[in-house]
Amino acid sequence: MTILIKNANEVITFKSVAQGPRIKEQMQDVAIIPYGSVLIENDRIVAIGPFTQLEVDYPDLLTVAEVIDATGKVVMPGLVDCHTHLVHGGTREQEFNMRLNGSTYMDIMNAGGGIHATTKQTREASFDELYGKTLRHLDVFLKHGITTVEAKSGYGLDWENERKQLEVAKKLHATHAIDIVSTFMGAHAVPRDYKGREDEFVDILVDDMLPKVAELGLAEFNDVFCEKGVFTPEQSRRILEAGKALQLTPKIHADEIEPYKGAELAAEVGAISAEHLLVASDEGIQKMAATGTIAVLLPGTAFFLRAPFARGRLMIDEGVPVAISTDFNPGSSPTMSLPFIMNLACMHMGMTLEEVLTATTINAAYALNRGHQIGSLEVGKQADVIMLDVANYKQLQYFYGMNHTHTVIKNGRIVVQDGILL
Ligand code: NIG
Ligand code: FE
Repeated sequence: MTILIKNANEVITFKSVAQGPRIKEQMQDVAIIPYGSVLIENDRIVAIGPFTQLEVDYPDLLTVAEVIDATGKVVMPGLVDCHTHLVHGGTREQEFNMRLNGSTYMDIMNAGGGIHATTKQTREASFDELYGKTLRHLDVFLKHGITTVEAKSGYGLDWENERKQLEVAKKLHATHAIDIVSTFMGAHAVPRDYKGREDEFVDILVDDMLPKVAELGLAEFNDVFCEKGVFTPEQSRRILEAGKALQLTPKIHADEIEPYKGAELAAEVGAISAEHLLVASDEGIQKMAATGTIAVLLPGTAFFLRAPFARGRLMIDEGVPVAISTDFNPGSSPTMSLPFIMNLACMHMGMTLEEVLTATTINAAYALNRGHQIGSLEVGKQADVIMLDVANYKQLQYFYGMNHTHTVIKNGRIVVQDGILL
């Protein structure tokens, strides 16, 4: 199929062709093609530029192309949501209400709620129930312009149920328009019945679960919740090194609630990213800059837990490549609106409009090791393209808290039109 998106008010690209995630002023490097067009053939981007140029270069393709009129709209790469806890049973609005009435997130978790409550509901849910629930969530993501989603396991906490979560993600990757990238996160919490025997659970992760995940090819990344009362930096290091030996790339939930030298650990183990970083230390930030570890910042979690926001501005100024994401999960960030998260990054982390575009496209793609395939409108890249019903990209955050997604093209196929899922 050939598609021509014609005469957009703005087509968003990047000025530089930097390899790797963008840092410092490169994150500011958004380029606009006014009255631009994008030509797509099958699943690839063939050309980007003014229509008059495309007419000269591709006369034959244009005669067969389905034309999408983008007059008055913005065209940009599909958003990449690089940190979610996508597959899970149940919801936790009662805990939200408890927090509004004074309980803390960690109090609730230590009393058997939080991640433990969702683990119970995820274990109780059948494969088909989880599949159906997650499919509905993916439809919402897609309608918000997200074309690739990372999915962490970590609500099974035993092999049978971790596997169930990963298999649900695998099947949905095959059946749903959205691409899903899987991360094993068996180290999301220590199961309640291992209290006092935490290292035994680490043994199971290292000796049993990680090798099975690798053997079955169920994940590309291995993530750990390195947090006081969850996994220590030493335990986290052991789990991440074990994954590395099996070709599972490390990621870390680092310095989310209390400073714990998680950012430092991420740099030391060669993690592709450290995520959350609400209370990361100056030294940790400098180490990440030196190693090029991507900071995946999740301002929705700070917003929803009423916690301090990560120091995004400082991280960018120090040279850390920054990506931002929803952290979609039933406890600390139950939203599928990455555009709203972009707004929080502008309002509460001192990031510019251009930086948040970079952070949710090309840098997020690099956090998933896919920067060469997705995350920007470039000739030869996968045709994941969205069209937004705003006159310019600044309006995307100016008209905040609304969904402006008009059309979504995934892998060269129109999957959302006029806001409606096809
Ligand atoms: O990223 N920090 C750990 N995990 C999630 C929350 C999970 C939950 O509350 O269910 C997070 O914030
Ligand atoms: Fe998370």
